Amino acid sequence: MKDQPVHLVVIGLGYVGLPVIAHAVRSGIHCTGLDTSHSIVNGLNSGRSHVDDISDSDVAELLSRGFSATSETSVLQTADVVLICVPTPLRKDREPDLTAVTAASKTVRDFLHQGMLVVLESTTYPGTTDGLVRGILEESGLIAGDDFNLAFSPERIDPGNATYGLKNTPKVVGGYTAQCTDRAAHFYELFVDTVVRTRGTREAELAKLLENTYRHVNIALVNEMAIFCHELGIDLWDSIDAAATKPFGFSAFYPGPGVGGHCIPIDPNYLSHQVRSLGYPFKFVELAEEISQRMPNYVVQRVEKLLGRRGVQLDGAKVLLLGLTYKPDISDQRETPARDLANLFTSAHAVVSGFDPNVSEFTVDHGLLRLEIDLQSALKACDVAVLLQAHSVFDLDEIAKFAPVVFDTRGRMRHDNVERL
Ligand SMILES: NC(=O)c1ccc[n+]([C@@H]2O[C@H](COP(=O)([O-])OP(=O)(O)OC[C@H]3O[C@@H](n4cnc5c(N)ncnc54)[C@H](O)[C@@H]3O)[C@@H](O)[C@H]2O)c1
Repeated sequence: MKDQPVHLVVIGLGYVGLPVIAHAVRSGIHCTGLDTSHSIVNGLNSGRSHVDDISDSDVAELLSRGFSATSETSVLQTADVVLICVPTPLRKDREPDLTAVTAASKTVRDFLHQGMLVVLESTTYPGTTDGLVRGILEESGLIAGDDFNLAFSPERIDPGNATYGLKNTPKVVGGYTAQCTDRAAHFYELFVDTVVRTRGTREAELAKLLENTYRHVNIALVNEMAIFCHELGIDLWDSIDAAATKPFGFSAFYPGPGVGGHCIPIDPNYLSHQVRSLGYPFKFVELAEEISQRMPNYVVQRVEKLLGRRGVQLDGAKVLLLGLTYKPDISDQRETPARDLANLFTSAHAVVSGFDPNVSEFTVDHGLLRLEIDLQSALKACDVAVLLQAHSVFDLDEIAKFAPVVFDTRGRMRHDNVERL
């Protein structure tokens, strides 16, 4: 396989699909991106990136190396390898929504041919690859493991992480048969340093959900602790720093205003959905979700008390939200707790505005959040600044200097006029 030319088609050109393409193209693989969104396809073909970790000049380089994006499914006719990287969100009732995986699988089915390797990368519950996806692909008359190879490989991409990217983060791969695993592993070895093989697709699917459930549960643990530590007068941030000096058996997690992003608030629900089908709940996930969802309300209550001690009512107070994205130093706003907070403060009749150098527009329930341009003036004019995301460009000393009072949900500030979560 290593000596053969490969035509790779990546379906879904988002936060996962685009970085995979970048690595594959740079290692010499001929690659085409397939996406239903014409604006994304047109943007990429004109050299514009919509993903944090891929710059416009990266896209220009990919185009110069033969990459192109398309919405024409017939590109699959010549594909040797297909990676499915489409969204797996939750429906309104917080149950898994596999609409995009189903649609993408049907698209592949229509062009499936002998010898093709199909890998699902979208995060989902165990059994999706060898159940839903295989079922659709085999409607073609071809048999997985005999006529084509089928595997699952979870994406572990961490947007904004400058140390670990796709190449140096081990890639988990599980095939429908042992031969499918080998084929998929050999493919990823073309551009990933270490490939980790699981016994099958379900083990690979679960590995991803285990990683994200572990994070979700541990974040909920410290969030719950933050609430009672405040009551007990204990500085949890100090305790976490102390505990983190243990060189084994402890990983530090930090409290915050809630969980955000496309993974942590969503993926564990895929697992609890599956566990519920067995007739009992996945208690850890349900508890973690309950605690996480409580955090924005808790932050509002704390800010209200902080203002109250200064003789200011939340009703009518000017609240400035600093950092609106779900992680520092990225522009991704998906599931960010800043949105819940903006809505909650607005419902409490506060006058809310935001400041975030990574964000040019921020939708809230009533339309668009007012975004400040001049941070210093906004800090001077507000009644309270709430640090929601500590972007590295923020000068925390300046924030403390110009704001009358700050509520720091990230535990980063140690100034006299700052109260921490
Ligand atoms: N964003 C992350 O950091 C991250 C990390 C690990 C895993 N994941 C998982 O990877 C998957 C993709 O996530 P993402 O963040 O890249 O999503 P995204 O929304 O950024 O991109 C998905 C793309 O798929 C396209 N699409 C949707 N349906 C399609 C179809 N039927 N055919 C072709 N294109 C289609 C959309 O237009 C969009 O451009 C999800 O399952 C997610 O849980 C995401």
